[in-house]
Amino acid sequence: MAAAAASSSSLLLIIVAVAVAVVAVMSQAAHAKHNGGGLSSGFYDETCPSAHDVVRRVIQDARVADPRIPASLIRLHFHDCFVNGCDASILLDDDLPAIATEKTVPANDNSARGFNVIDDIKCELEKACPGVVSCADILALAAQISVQLAGGPRWRVPLGRRDATTTNIPSAEDLPNFFDPLDKLLRKFHNVGLDHADLVALQGAHTFGRTQCLFTRENCTAGRPADALDNLDDVTPDVFDNKYYGSLLHGIGKLPSDQVMLSDPYAAATTAPVVHRFASNQKDFFRSFAASMIKMGNISPLTGTMNGEIRHNCRRINTRDY
Ligand code: HEM
Ligand SMILES: *[C@@H]1O[C@H](CO)[C@@H](O)[C@H](O)[C@H]1NC(C)=O
Repeated sequence: MAAAAASSSSLLLIIVAVAVAVVAVMSQAAHAKHNGGGLSSGFYDETCPSAHDVVRRVIQDARVADPRIPASLIRLHFHDCFVNGCDASILLDDDLPAIATEKTVPANDNSARGFNVIDDIKCELEKACPGVVSCADILALAAQISVQLAGGPRWRVPLGRRDATTTNIPSAEDLPNFFDPLDKLLRKFHNVGLDHADLVALQGAHTFGRTQCLFTRENCTAGRPADALDNLDDVTPDVFDNKYYGSLLHGIGKLPSDQVMLSDPYAAATTAPVVHRFASNQKDFFRSFAASMIKMGNISPLTGTMNGEIRHNCRRINTRDY
């Protein structure tokens, strides 16, 4: 009788333990959506040790001809990660009916650029280590290297993403917009696991690069054509620093979506204190920017061996690569 009770209570214990383990695994799986589960900065140490140097060399060459390239490349990583996670879906060209490209949604059309540089990087990497480095990881590495080349912070990029075999047009059409009020921007960031401090830090990428004057608060004064280019940061147009936040404090942020981080009714309780912090302390901005970039790079990666693929050509899925 006592023995039976003991064994039934230990059976109960086992059942409880298994249930707890199952719940733990399930909640971990749910969290992997935004926490980059499975990525590691040493991912290519054995299989493609030259990956970082190759990416860096191609970007170095490209920015000699076009100083805007580092800015354009980090923006590609952002527009990739916000749409189905960091899976290089933004790089796919139209291949109907299977693939509808994200390159022609409003946020990308005549706007996203640098695709040829990604092609050049992929081409060099396919020579150095064929079939190893994903296009999604190229975007993440290119973003970090671009920031560093422009004088910004350095961080170790978690790697091991795989490439998508699909695109997501409705999600790409919902990318953050320059006219979005602050609560809408915050909602779009929250949807991918980023908070108000991440929004302020990441928009700090507008410390370099250009914008068509059509998107600016000045809106092409003096009859300039809509696609005439303005610096996003007039103080130091090609340098990655914290001057962008100083301009916000002076009320001269370029895009409506820049200035709302101070001027919106919601700003005082959310983003404004962070803008002040970054304006007065570049080290703080650099540290926060690196952390937020890692968070953004961790959005829903495809990992393992069953999900996605390593594309040979960043513009096409492998089965269509003939
Ligand atoms: C918060 C929402 C954001 C909005 C509404 C926004 C909007 C824009 C717009 C309208 C442009 C100009 C595009 C053009 O003229 O063709 C632009 C450029 C740029 N954005 Fe953003 N952006 C946002 C967040 C970010 C983030 C998170 C990053 C990177 C981490 C980023 C990096 C850049 C860069 C570097 C450029 C210049 C690109 C170039 O010169 O090619 N932006 N952004
Ligand atoms: C600038 O003006 C054009 C044409 O009226 C309009 O479509 C666009 O949204 C305006 N941009 C801004 C930032 O106000």
